[in-house]
Amino acid sequence: MSFRETAAAYPVSAPPALSPAEVFAQVRDREESLSRLLMAFVCSGLFFMLFPGTFLGVWNLLQISGRESVASISPAWLQAHGHAQVFGWVGSFILGIGFYSIPKLRGGARGSFGGAWLCWVLWTVGAAMRWAANVYSWQWRVLLPLSASLELIAFLIFFRAVSGHRAQESGKQRLEPWIWVVVSASTGLFLVLLTNLVGCFNVALRGSTPAFTHVFDQRYLALLAWGFLVPFVWGFSAKWMAVFLGLKTPRTKFLIAALATNWIGLAIALFGLVFAGGFLLILGTGLAIAAIRVFEPAINEPKTRGVHTSFPVFIRMAYVWLVVAGVLGVAASRWDTSGGIWGASRHALTVGFVSIMILSVGQRVLPAFAGMRILWSTQLMFLAGFLLTLGCATRVVCEVLAYQGYATWAWRVLPVSALTELSALTLFAINMMGTFILQPTHSVKEPMVARIAEAAWYPKSEWTTALPRNKL
Ligand code: HEM
Repeated sequence: MSFRETAAAYPVSAPPALSPAEVFAQVRDREESLSRLLMAFVCSGLFFMLFPGTFLGVWNLLQISGRESVASISPAWLQAHGHAQVFGWVGSFILGIGFYSIPKLRGGARGSFGGAWLCWVLWTVGAAMRWAANVYSWQWRVLLPLSASLELIAFLIFFRAVSGHRAQESGKQRLEPWIWVVVSASTGLFLVLLTNLVGCFNVALRGSTPAFTHVFDQRYLALLAWGFLVPFVWGFSAKWMAVFLGLKTPRTKFLIAALATNWIGLAIALFGLVFAGGFLLILGTGLAIAAIRVFEPAINEPKTRGVHTSFPVFIRMAYVWLVVAGVLGVAASRWDTSGGIWGASRHALTVGFVSIMILSVGQRVLPAFAGMRILWSTQLMFLAGFLLTLGCATRVVCEVLAYQGYATWAWRVLPVSALTELSALTLFAINMMGTFILQPTHSVKEPMVARIAEAAWYPKSEWTTALPRNKL
């Protein structure tokens, strides 16, 4: 972090009132509080990923493979799995990292953490309640709308905190393009949560089981995937990939074009023109890849210190999976007769793109965010990424072959793919917990904090000019 970024990240109010030692203590306290909050979101996310998410997903797939049909499995169970993965796991990670990155929270008073903790409680309880209602069918007419309301309120608390992060607060005149992409993804998440709430009320009032109807669910999943998950990853890629992979800075116009194309494609698909919409989604993906320069040669050394050296390969592979997901989506709109091509497209996106990205970037940044720790094992990181890629590839290929009735042997391979993915995600969870429990923390370095403390004595507008050059 440059001095300017560091100082912007730790705004200190009423400069002359505090001595450098007091500023140091204040900064360290806030950093520790932020790390605790982040670890709460990450730990609950890992729990959802492993138990309500992956174990149920594996169980569902074993049942489907045993009966050689997806139709015989309760849709409520399939949806419980999907919800736990996307909201319980991915959503918790996004909220946790989002709160951690808000300068306002760093600069705010102690009480400003209250909202963030309330968000964590509501989000976690909401996601757990939804899973229990879907799986056990207990009081689901009440619990379904209640869980969707809790999740929406949690998001609104988060959004209120994030929207306080204005351009001036980050020391810039205008918001950077990647922030627009993240804002668009947050809008997508808001729409998904709203749709989820409407769907839950509808099911509670008129349904006979705690599951969305098939047609509603398909549209809801498209919005969730292309309106929320995909733009979020693009936004963070636009911000970080140039640094992590040593690439040139992103092409702004391509990024905006990618976003616009993606939203138009999604809207067309939601209105029923799935084939045409699918083509636009692929085009949007191509534009995003060109914008972020994912496959262009690096101009600087990739930042792989503390992680496995294969890190850049997995990031690029995630984008290959996104293209595969888009192509399979278009193919599904023409040839799917069993849900198999749709399912393969969905998992190419959720496992191949999103999960591989989380395994890679998560293990790169989360140890540092959680008290400046170092990743427990880079070998485990590689093994998890490798197994997840292997499991996902096997799953995607065999799901199409088996469900569509092209090859009966594929039914016997599907359980193996599920167990391979399960092993990968378990290793990821072990590595993260090993990092949190076994690795020592290194609090914010004193020289850096001393410089922040010094900066506190100058008005914010003079941070770049008031200090002698050799101190910057
Ligand atoms: C061990 C890994 C996983 C297994 C075995 C698994 C299994 C399944 C199965 C059997 C289905 C039912 C539809 C179909 O047959 O395709 C399904 C649906 C789904 N999965 Fe997974 N899955 C896994 C990982 C994930 C991950 C990591 C995510 C998200 C990050 C995810 C998100 C979803 C979603 C959104 C659905 C659709 C649910 C619905 O119908 O509403 N899955 N999964």
